[in-house]
Amino acid sequence: MTAQPTLLAIALTVLATVAIASTADIGDRQKLMKSNGAATKPVVAMLKGEAPFDLAVVQKSLANYQDNIGQFVTLFPDDSKTGEKTSASPKIWEDMAGFKAAADKFAADAKLASASITDEASFKANMPAVLKNCGSCHEAWRVKDAQ
Ligand code: HEC
Repeated sequence: MTAQPTLLAIALTVLATVAIASTADIGDRQKLMKSNGAATKPVVAMLKGEAPFDLAVVQKSLANYQDNIGQFVTLFPDDSKTGEKTSASPKIWEDMAGFKAAADKFAADAKLASASITDEASFKANMPAVLKNCGSCHEAWRVKDAQ
């Protein structure tokens, strides 16, 4: 007779752990994207000519993108489709391979730009292609009206 409540308690604990884990994943992936946003601001200011070109800042942002995105795509377990005001599109779970391919392309473009950018001219020539990934991935894999 005592076995049943114990099993129930274990089941509830497991469920509670799962719920906490998915919430943490949503928060973590949003944090990584916020960091992408913070890394992009100074770079866009340089592209617009509103801030002086600074190679170290550009290279730091490109490294930040590559570090973030590899971790980002691991934070989409099945139980993190909703909650925490996520704006992740349900399409991600329907086509995880396609989503990961978009992430890989972003990382590859950032890596290529990092090797190509040595001065302001090469920055202006190569950076826009990297930043295009932000919009194209959001367009395909993010739901706009969730935020
Ligand atoms: C591979 C796809 C992909 C790429 C590339 C990408 N993002 Fe995102 N981004 C997402 C997804 C998916 C979300 C929604 C995350 C969520 O709410 O669960 C998001 C959310 C965000 C958010 C909102 C975070 C929050 O607080 O909820 C910001 C800001 C952001 N991205 C900025 C950027 C910038 C800047 C870049 C380019 C430098 C970029 N993203 C590149 C997929 C991507």
